[in-house]
Amino acid sequence: MNKSQASDRIAKLRELINDYRYHYHVLDESTMSEAAADSLKHELTQLEAEFPELITSDSPTQRVAGAPLPGFTQVEHRTRMLSLNDVFDESEVRAWEERIKKILPANSILEYFADIKMDGLACALVYEDGLLVRGITRGDGFVGEDVTMNIRTIESLPLRLRSSPGYEKFAIGRTEVRGEIVMYKSDFEALNTQRAAEGKPLFANPRNTAAGTIRQLNPQLVANRPLHFRAYDIYREDPVDTPTNEYVYESLRMLGFLANKAASVFKSVELLMQFAELWDSKRQSLVFNTDGLVIKVNNRELYRRLGVVGKAPRGAVALKYAAEQATTKVKDIFISIGRTGAATPVAMLEPVVVAGSTVQMATLHNESEVLRKDIRVGDTVIIHKAGDIIPEVVEPLMTLRDGSEKPFVMPAHCPDCTTKLVKYKAADAAWRCPNEACPSRAWKRIEHFASKSALDIEGLGEKNVIALINSKLVKDAADIYKLTPEAVLKLDRFAEISANKLVSAIQSKKQPPLYRFIYGLGIRHVGVQTATDLANNFRSLETLSTATIGELERIDGIGSVVAESVAEWFSEPVNLKLLQSFNEQEVWPCEVKKVGGKLAGFHFVVTGSLETLGREEAAEKIRLHGGVFQSSLGKETDYLVVGAKVGASKLAKANKLGTKQLNEQEFLKLLSSS
Ligand code: IVH
Repeated sequence: MNKSQASDRIAKLRELINDYRYHYHVLDESTMSEAAADSLKHELTQLEAEFPELITSDSPTQRVAGAPLPGFTQVEHRTRMLSLNDVFDESEVRAWEERIKKILPANSILEYFADIKMDGLACALVYEDGLLVRGITRGDGFVGEDVTMNIRTIESLPLRLRSSPGYEKFAIGRTEVRGEIVMYKSDFEALNTQRAAEGKPLFANPRNTAAGTIRQLNPQLVANRPLHFRAYDIYREDPVDTPTNEYVYESLRMLGFLANKAASVFKSVELLMQFAELWDSKRQSLVFNTDGLVIKVNNRELYRRLGVVGKAPRGAVALKYAAEQATTKVKDIFISIGRTGAATPVAMLEPVVVAGSTVQMATLHNESEVLRKDIRVGDTVIIHKAGDIIPEVVEPLMTLRDGSEKPFVMPAHCPDCTTKLVKYKAADAAWRCPNEACPSRAWKRIEHFASKSALDIEGLGEKNVIALINSKLVKDAADIYKLTPEAVLKLDRFAEISANKLVSAIQSKKQPPLYRFIYGLGIRHVGVQTATDLANNFRSLETLSTATIGELERIDGIGSVVAESVAEWFSEPVNLKLLQSFNEQEVWPCEVKKVGGKLAGFHFVVTGSLETLGREEAAEKIRLHGGVFQSSLGKETDYLVVGAKVGASKLAKANKLGTKQLNEQEFLKLLSSS
């Protein structure tokens, strides 16, 4: 990027970020997620680092957020309320450690104090001779708003410091306590449920609700909203009163404040990272929202010596968990053909890290979705990823457009086999490639056939399947059984051991369980549970293949759409040819001996870890005996199989629903007697 391009981009980024910050911090509204805004800010910081001459004093990178609202008295902070610089992983924590080590005397003993970073609003409470005299919001860090009347209604903070032997000094003179005002997730949800019932507009999130509440001019309203103050800091005139952060937290508790129990001292970055990992995985269980940890140098004398750079102390950082959103550019939009022929537009992205992994592609679902969101090649977009779900494009940032973006046009033909794309029904969202022999469809079908829930053939993932198809060694799923180690060895990807391994993995799956085989055929609308129902009812592939729509529909849980889809599949000549090829290779699913079995009609949930069976194995056994395996407890659940290390909430729910509970022994007995 040259300087003039950078200058244009910087101007646009600043405007967008400023707009976001104004809405977020001043109006308590959200125009995009915090993670997306962080991502834009990251881009801006990098551009400014590359072109430092373009930095101006009004850039969002150069100031602390939020101007005080008119309507409250403005109060100057005795000590500035700072922000924290973000770090995102172990290497950045280590780099921070290196930086501070260089500044501190060589013989300093470095210990860290880490706490969960709460997502609320910062507040400073001033106590004079033990009595609460003032509550001040953070404002711009130098000047905040006097919200004393409002914070007095928060029951989790003391109006007078509790007297505790050994901590009397805090009740003499001025003690400033800082902490976060938070609304708990459950209270937030209850509040919104109530507002929905009253037909009132809903609040966006707990943080904004808490901030909005504290800025209400009517303290009565504040008293009716459940807010909590969780303390993390003490300031005294004489810093000797508070030698370490560990001591500060102890004192806070003695003085009557709520301080997070998890907060503790760590002697190394390694231990800090273990703590971070623990709380990243447990964050859902917290009563408030969090997006990371706050890490500070424990010794406050050293912390002070490290000083402040810009708006943040050098001696502390926020370690942020992997964000679920980020922004990046759409390089191209291409069409991916699925195994059923569905033509899905997919965005090719400039690689970006979202939720801890690099994302280069995101599904755009279908043509109308792309047009509705108006996603164009060249757009900067917000990417979202939740858990291990495929990343999605949330929206394009239209204000960042420079006119070079290209609108999306759905191609008329399959990009692989050039067959004209069709819609089976006018109302269908997806265009499809109707060519059963389309190579793209073939590799998706084979990949599905070999996948974990289907035949579970180790080593037959996407890349190997594509290589086998490109080399013309296989055209369909039956062909994989014809592979010999010698033939596979000819491909670049394989050596002798891997070729042998793949062929024997394939050969070991010649008599798969019927339900796996049915699922592996990739019939539209047939997932694992439907495949199991079909297997249990028809017991052999031969019977299933001749079933009429009427016979299919008679099965519990199978409706007309699925019935038609199954019957149609078994009437297509290409599919019958495929089954014949399987037969010639002596590949045929086992018959299901018992119809239904003793578990037919019963619903099971397995919770905790079982000693003798994996979760999938237990599910398979339940299904083979005709039962339904569910992932979560519901009214229809008949049995909860309880293993070790079970969460109390699951058991409480089972008790409430009156679900019968089985321990592992009882469950195994039930299986063997059926
Ligand atoms: S210690 C220099 N501890 O995070 C400020 N802050 O980005 C260090 N926050 O405005 C403060 N939880 O409101 C600290 N356990 C915690 C925190 C916490 C949330 C907020 C705080 C501050 C912001 C810094």
